[in-house]
Amino acid sequence: HDMSAMSHAVPGGAVAATVLAPVEAIAAGAPLAVLKKLVNTSPQPGLFRATLRAAPVSLAVLQDGTPTEFWAYNNSLPGPLIEVMEGDTVEIEFINALSQPSTIHWHGLPVPPEQDGNPQDAVPAGGRRVYRFKLPLNCAGTYWYHPHPHGFTAEQVYRGLAGLFIVRTKNDPLKSIPERHLVCSDLKLGADGRIAANDMNDEMNGREGQFALVNAQRQPVLTFDAGGRERWRIWNANSARYLRLSLPGARFTLVGTDGGLLGKPVTGLTELQMTAAERIEVIVEAPAGGGVVGLVTEPVERGKMGEVSPEHPITLLNVDFSAVKPERLAALPKLPGSLRRIQPLGAAKAKKRVVFSEEMSMAGGVHSMKFLVNGQNFDMQRVDFTSRIHEVELWEIVNQSDMDHPFHIHGTQFQVLERELDGQVTPEPLLAWRDMVNTRSGEIVRVKLVQRHKGLRMFHCHILEHENAGMMGQVQVI
Ligand code: C2O
Ligand code: CU
Ligand code: CU
Repeated sequence: HDMSAMSHAVPGGAVAATVLAPVEAIAAGAPLAVLKKLVNTSPQPGLFRATLRAAPVSLAVLQDGTPTEFWAYNNSLPGPLIEVMEGDTVEIEFINALSQPSTIHWHGLPVPPEQDGNPQDAVPAGGRRVYRFKLPLNCAGTYWYHPHPHGFTAEQVYRGLAGLFIVRTKNDPLKSIPERHLVCSDLKLGADGRIAANDMNDEMNGREGQFALVNAQRQPVLTFDAGGRERWRIWNANSARYLRLSLPGARFTLVGTDGGLLGKPVTGLTELQMTAAERIEVIVEAPAGGGVVGLVTEPVERGKMGEVSPEHPITLLNVDFSAVKPERLAALPKLPGSLRRIQPLGAAKAKKRVVFSEEMSMAGGVHSMKFLVNGQNFDMQRVDFTSRIHEVELWEIVNQSDMDHPFHIHGTQFQVLERELDGQVTPEPLLAWRDMVNTRSGEIVRVKLVQRHKGLRMFHCHILEHENAGMMGQVQVI
């Protein structure tokens, strides 16, 4: 979308053009940071207890030393990594030291609705609360947490509030492979060092900052394990940016999605697509040639209007393979042929239809875009659907909009069944647990899911500007 004409229509010049800092303003080339872990203060086995405090923090990320005010959990960018075992009880005290209401939403985790940081349960500025939940067995996977207060989610995330969450299992067939954590996020900074507000284009297409970061660093260097093989967990923690990753010369083996390991590995991939908010696990093997190779994200088309994300290929980080000896590569043991058992969900007992659309509005002489679910804008007072606990449901997500929208639902993982585009149905080849799926402009995506807790759940587009603008609904599980 070209928003230049629309910007002129805004009375009073509400859209002030931000002069952005050049990409070189943040130094590149530091060793890839290891994620900071949230320390468990509980001596009791099976209980993880800690505090997360959301507060403004001033950090000098620009080379010239100009400080930037972020909002962060425990002063950490990205937010600290929570690592627990399946079956553990998690008790997090949340302190909201922001000037806005906030919540912590446990993205993808099967936690009860009243512990899931719904917009209804906002913690006021200056307030605190404890989130407490017991994780079931069989939920090992790669998750994250972020705020979800009504109307403030997008801003709180782009100011830095997002953290990582890994649930582990005792029976991990890939345990022996060295693990790496890559959190992809972006940052939009003005030349003055301040985090830029959203402009009209951000509100329309989703915000994409000029800095594409990994573990909050620009183009860090990953020194690859001398053994020649690593397991990468990758988070797309961007507000809107889609990723299409490649590592020339190297091959990826996909072993996991949002909700944990696949049934069996998918080998020989040269490219990995990830929608905003999606996570994957891949095995990476060093290319025979060694050397230094860039992990690149290529442009992705995000709809009929030709919007691409990002606009140009971006090198996210450089991987240094020089420590790997070629003879180690030849001696790598085979990966296990099966990773875990995934049962396809049974026959659906109920069906839901979610239609994503958008509408241009001209209220009060101001152009804006309305993002809709089933023709309506989000309303906290309105329950859109009712579902029965433990019942398999078929959800049909219909994208009638001119752009792609990544669908997300709280509290459960789903299995993608098929995609339909222009009457052509393509069955989904992968049996996997996910909480994110892209819906292409004009496409219908069918998924199956089951909710295991009673209460209110949100579902929405995970381009955070769209969610904020009302592309969200609620389902009451009874
Ligand atoms: Cu990342 Cu409503 O979620
Ligand atoms: Cu979520
Ligand atoms: Cu969207």
